[in-house]
Amino acid sequence: MYISQVKDRVGEEIELRGWVYRKRESGGIIFVIIRDHTGIIQISIKKDNVDANSWNDANETSIESSIKVRGIIKEDPRAPGNYEIEAKEFKLIHKAEPFPITEYQSPELLLDFRHLWLRSQKMTKIMRIRSYVFRYIREFLDERDFYEITPPILTKAGGETGADLFEVKYFNEKAYLTESSQLYAEAMIFSLEKVYSFAPSFRAEKSRTVKHLAEYWHLEPEMAYYDMYDNMKLQEELVSYIAQSLARDHADLLKDFNVNIEELKGVEPPFPRYSYKEALDILKEKGSDKKWGDDFGVEEEKLLTMDQTKPIFIHHWPSEIKAFYMPDDPEYPGTVKNADMLAPKGHGEIIGGSERIWKLDELLDKMKKFKLNIENYDWYIDLRKYGSVPHSGFGMGVERVIKWLLNLDHIRDAIPFPRVINRVKP
Ligand code: 4AD
Ligand code: MG
Repeated sequence: MYISQVKDRVGEEIELRGWVYRKRESGGIIFVIIRDHTGIIQISIKKDNVDANSWNDANETSIESSIKVRGIIKEDPRAPGNYEIEAKEFKLIHKAEPFPITEYQSPELLLDFRHLWLRSQKMTKIMRIRSYVFRYIREFLDERDFYEITPPILTKAGGETGADLFEVKYFNEKAYLTESSQLYAEAMIFSLEKVYSFAPSFRAEKSRTVKHLAEYWHLEPEMAYYDMYDNMKLQEELVSYIAQSLARDHADLLKDFNVNIEELKGVEPPFPRYSYKEALDILKEKGSDKKWGDDFGVEEEKLLTMDQTKPIFIHHWPSEIKAFYMPDDPEYPGTVKNADMLAPKGHGEIIGGSERIWKLDELLDKMKKFKLNIENYDWYIDLRKYGSVPHSGFGMGVERVIKWLLNLDHIRDAIPFPRVINRVKP
């Protein structure tokens, strides 16, 4: 039985297992607050109500000890959460050594003790929500006939800029940790048509920001026959599904974060759409000096999304600042058929997506322009030689999405063991 189920069984004798969260004593009674994955509850152990072993175990109990209790559920407005277990039997499973995390610790120390800090109420809630988000993503795509695929992590070719690759020694040659599984997902649409890979991507980005991880979980759907507008529609439906499901099923968890649940419920298609050119105009009005060809940074993302309640799309970016696989769009000269999705309130880019060049000559031209080493991409080029079809896809950084949904200050709290520029332990 779990702590969250206690309220439905008042008066009954039950058994619970958990870890000690707080402990105090007062005149022959020991009060222990325990936690499990669903919450916390107070246990009272009275000397007269339990046998000598139980009383001894309760006395020995320390913070973070694991315990088992049998007792009666009572309603008690004085107890945190309004319920209490009156113990009949109390058993210490393992006595914890003095716990190294006490109140008011520095963020750095909490990161050093991440393996223990994951037990905190805050991290427990975030990790539950993370798991729900993973579940919603798979539910959404499985319902739409997508196949989940499993791309390689060790690769020869970068899919994006290639500048931020982690190099690894691969027997007698060099290889890299993948920065995107897109190119492999593309290879698989020619048999499975609609696929997604959900795997870690690696970026050796030297930037120390609140939204960059060196290792993050990357959802990458790829769809045969989709154009950029089909692609955007799928993205806004997916993101709405995640936000609404979470607000509907887990409002209880969300209330412990600084989020507006009504706003999350209101995340529904369509999302506002601005071309890159329109975005530049908005930025200019707001005092920015960005000009055609500039990428947007934290400042611009904030200016564009601070007063938004839903994510927005910025589409048709200048071709020279976007990836080699994106086709030019003659209807918007100088730009490609792509769109980035930015989260509200300055949380930044959560999705990057585009159509893919599907014609051989066009791809070779673009690769030449980008001065790519064709040898490393021979297999990718092959895909344009045998029954090529128009297709599109996108990549979503799951930790960025969680950071936005929970309004977290830093992306590192959206993943259990964050890898950032100065940390690869624990
Ligand atoms: O925009 P990016 O670089 O696009 C790609 O990698 C494409 N190949 C994806 C595709 O079309 N299949 O990355 C996609 C998303 C970003 O929008 C962002 O949400 C996330 O990945 N992302 C990061 N998240 C955390 N830490 C980082 N260092 C990230 N870099 C990108
Ligand atoms: Mg991007």
